[in-house]
Amino acid sequence: MLGNTFGRVFRITTCGESYGSGLAVIVDGVPAGMKLTNEMIQEELDKRKPGQSELDSPRKETDIAQIFAGLGQEGLTTGAPVGIIVYNVDRQAVHVEQYRKAKHLFRPGHAEYTYFVKYGAHYDWCGAGRASGRETVGRVAGGAVAKQILLRDNIEVLAYVQESCGIRARRMGFEEVKKNYRKNPLNCPDLEAAEKMIAKILEIKAAGDTCGGVVEIIARGVPAGLGEPVFDKLSATIAHGLMSIGAVKGVEIGAGFRVAGMKGSECNDPPYIENERVRFRTNNSGGFLGGITNGEDLVIRMAVKPTPTISLEQDSFDKTTMREAKLAAITRRDATICPRIYPVAEAMVRIAILDALFMWRGWEGVQKHVSA
Ligand SMILES: Cc1cc2nc3c(=O)[nH]c(=O)nc-3n(C[C@H](O)[C@H](O)[C@H](O)COP(=O)(O)O)c2cc1C
Repeated sequence: MLGNTFGRVFRITTCGESYGSGLAVIVDGVPAGMKLTNEMIQEELDKRKPGQSELDSPRKETDIAQIFAGLGQEGLTTGAPVGIIVYNVDRQAVHVEQYRKAKHLFRPGHAEYTYFVKYGAHYDWCGAGRASGRETVGRVAGGAVAKQILLRDNIEVLAYVQESCGIRARRMGFEEVKKNYRKNPLNCPDLEAAEKMIAKILEIKAAGDTCGGVVEIIARGVPAGLGEPVFDKLSATIAHGLMSIGAVKGVEIGAGFRVAGMKGSECNDPPYIENERVRFRTNNSGGFLGGITNGEDLVIRMAVKPTPTISLEQDSFDKTTMREAKLAAITRRDATICPRIYPVAEAMVRIAILDALFMWRGWEGVQKHVSA
């Protein structure tokens, strides 16, 4: 399997599956002399772990993070790759058997068919294998390392659930999102809209079905000038990072698809000067011009599809007979992936921003040297 690394200078490489012994991440590019503790990683992993409310999968994973490499005797980073491991603890035989019994049938909305096409008889049929939401543990642990470095530059990244079941939160800025961050199990900072969304999700869950939604990510404090102008636009690497998360079917930057219906006079963000700094009165560009940050908040949204595992009978086919077949409900699932996925979105955006910061500072350093 190829493509398990994200980032160019600051980068993460992950491994691990849903029903393997555990999941790990190797983080490259961590500066030396930085305080990094298991608790710092745990804080992020705790946002993502399952079984926290009736919206989540009942799978009971402790998701305990253990930094096993990259720290010196004083607990500071040494500049070596940081390795973090999380063991899977809730791998009950009853669930493995449920997957084993149904492994000849492909589950609609899951990646089993395409994994089978690529990896043949040895593909991992248990709990979606590497395509499982558990794969994102390594991303979140790696993103927690990026968070600690970004905080030194006062760069903050927050994600929240903006929409679910057709109910939308009112428009909110960074400060308001921060004030009501994680105040309910959905992490929707519009507390009234959240109640309606949760009631609707539980109604859909009771009917054996699932639903999706929209997660918005806002990054504050990102300096102007990040991102490389052509293939490595920061807007493009962020979209890459987010689209690589399972169940994400769309990414919008700023006004996103709404730009198609706007006039130029409506879409352009007028610049002005505030305290000798260039600012923009509106942020339809989502904080990017030419894929390079303009100093305003980065505003990105991603569309999350409904959880593919449902409790209703579905059409499928049997790979042993190549005949159409019916698939009954299988094992545990999230009623909606939204409250599980926002910490993953924060992690991917943090990694992409930090990687761009490394690229920019590296290039700037060499440029100064050449021009001296
Ligand atoms: C954090 C997270 C949790 C997920 N939880 C579930 C789940 O409980 N049940 C399920 O069927 N799919 C879940 N998924 C979605 C599947 O992993 C994903 O839809 C599937 O692998 C197919 O990939 P695709 O949707 O990108 O095509 C989860 C994904 C993420 C990122």
